[in-house]
Amino acid sequence: MKATKKHKILVTSALPYANGPIHIGHLVEYIQVDIFVRFLRLIEEDVLFVCADDTHGAPIEIKASELGIRPEQLIEKVYNEHVQDFRDFLISFDNYHTTHSPENKHYSDLIFTRLNDKGLIYTKDVEVTYCEHCKRTLPDRYVKGKCPKCNAPDQYGDVCENCNAAYKTTDLIDPYCVVCKNKPIRKISTHYFFKLSKFSRKLESWLKKNKNLQPEIKNFVFNWINNGLEDWNISRDGPYFGFKIPGEENKYYYVWLDAPIGYIASTDNYCKKHGLKTEDYWNNKGSRIYHFIGKDIIYFHFLFWPAMLLGSGFELPYHIPVHGFLTVNGEKMSKSRGTFFTAREFLQKYNPEYLRYYYAGLLGSKMSDIDLSFNDFRKKVNNELAANLGNFCYRVLNFLNRYFDGEVKGIDSNKKLIGEIKKLAKNIGKNYNALNFNEAVKDILHISSLGNKYFQDNEPWKLVNGDREKTHRILGLCVNIVKNLSILIQPILPNFSSNLQKQLDLLNLKWSDINFELKNHKIGKEEILIMKMEEKEAQKPQFPLSLKVARILDVKDHPN
Ligand code: MSP
Ligand code: ZN
Repeated sequence: MKATKKHKILVTSALPYANGPIHIGHLVEYIQVDIFVRFLRLIEEDVLFVCADDTHGAPIEIKASELGIRPEQLIEKVYNEHVQDFRDFLISFDNYHTTHSPENKHYSDLIFTRLNDKGLIYTKDVEVTYCEHCKRTLPDRYVKGKCPKCNAPDQYGDVCENCNAAYKTTDLIDPYCVVCKNKPIRKISTHYFFKLSKFSRKLESWLKKNKNLQPEIKNFVFNWINNGLEDWNISRDGPYFGFKIPGEENKYYYVWLDAPIGYIASTDNYCKKHGLKTEDYWNNKGSRIYHFIGKDIIYFHFLFWPAMLLGSGFELPYHIPVHGFLTVNGEKMSKSRGTFFTAREFLQKYNPEYLRYYYAGLLGSKMSDIDLSFNDFRKKVNNELAANLGNFCYRVLNFLNRYFDGEVKGIDSNKKLIGEIKKLAKNIGKNYNALNFNEAVKDILHISSLGNKYFQDNEPWKLVNGDREKTHRILGLCVNIVKNLSILIQPILPNFSSNLQKQLDLLNLKWSDINFELKNHKIGKEEILIMKMEEKEAQKPQFPLSLKVARILDVKDHPN
């Protein structure tokens, strides 16, 4: 696998909402993207990995007001938590920004103005649901009532969970405000619309031309287009947390307008700090932009976002890999079933590389859901990571240190084994590149099984007493396999890899260092790198409950 270096590559993961913690469902995506980016760096591509917190919208404004703090304080706190969670799961962003930034305001106004100047934005009166008690227009998730189609009670203002009907908040029967439970009124409000309908043909031809997009996703996007695209309401009434629309007093950009613009803003923020040019990524036919997303946000990334880019003169994405959703023990994650885990909760119990390894083993280029089953998790960590990969590396280094003072001299010229491993390594590169990490993992395990078998079959613990030189050459070949494994697994297990390379006394190896040329070299001290999981530890994680008892001495209103 060789870098082309001809293209500047920009990789993004979806911007997580700033109204809650990172959980293990999110991590499917961030781990997937991180593995891909680390692979690209390993083959020495020119790649930039950016993301940001998605900070705007009604839920953040409402949550902050419930907590008695300003939205700015809420998003700052969440930002710090997200950054720590990502760092601890070894997600290697080059830049992690926020959509509540000067860069994002700049690009949002720029894109809005360009679209407006081209006549792609117009205003129209719409009927909205308004709570006179809370003094706010109620967004979809803040009004409930009976479904207008099937009459099911307690349905949200956008879709019915019982019959899947989609409707407007004003269609609900007997609506009530989720916050104060009062009955809202209907109100007329003027809103800004983006002429998405004008882009049907252009979007269709982009989809047809782009050979990277997953065919199954393209198909249902074509369906949406064929059924007719509706213009898109891109404004929201205050109170709202976001950027004000130019020339307006109480209207804001809808969060989904400025959120993807956050991809450009985060790039810009990085470029300014590093003497690079944002245009080299966003206005350059030769650049490649990858947006990784989950299946719930396809509409935004395959229709709204490319249409906005087309309308305002920016480069379209090169690829939008879509992944499926995480289930835990076969079911949707749920707090009440005890299968919802935040990143932090997971870290309190497990090595983050266990989860990276487990997800890698399930992730392919197709959009399918993946399941975290705790039984399977334990089996894979114990039998594959610890007993196969970890054990092979450890026993080789241990033997070499014990019998040969850590010195590699020559290597056994076993052409068959070397040839087989070279072929597997090549395949692994292809599979990383094609996002088939599950296949890459299989081949990596295959290499360490071959290594284990070679070691075992030669019985070096016996041979060393008869033919010491041959034993030394056999160990030489084994150390070369270990070195190659440390490179091949690096995108998935960066810590394991760097610790192993420390033990080998070889640092920062690249993909091009995969070879069988390590000779006349002294390794360092070996250590066990991957521990097996205990049986009980592998059950569903249980977290200590901390109960505190207190007497209330005084009560005062919160100053805010
Ligand atoms: N803020 C928007 C994205 C804006 S991008 C311009 C958003 N945020 S999110 O926090 O809800 O989700 C962030 C990413 O995590 C999305 O790609 C989403 O699909 C993914 N996942 C969230 N929950 C998930 C699972 N349970 N399983 C797999 N991926 C999940 O959407
Ligand atoms: Zn209310």
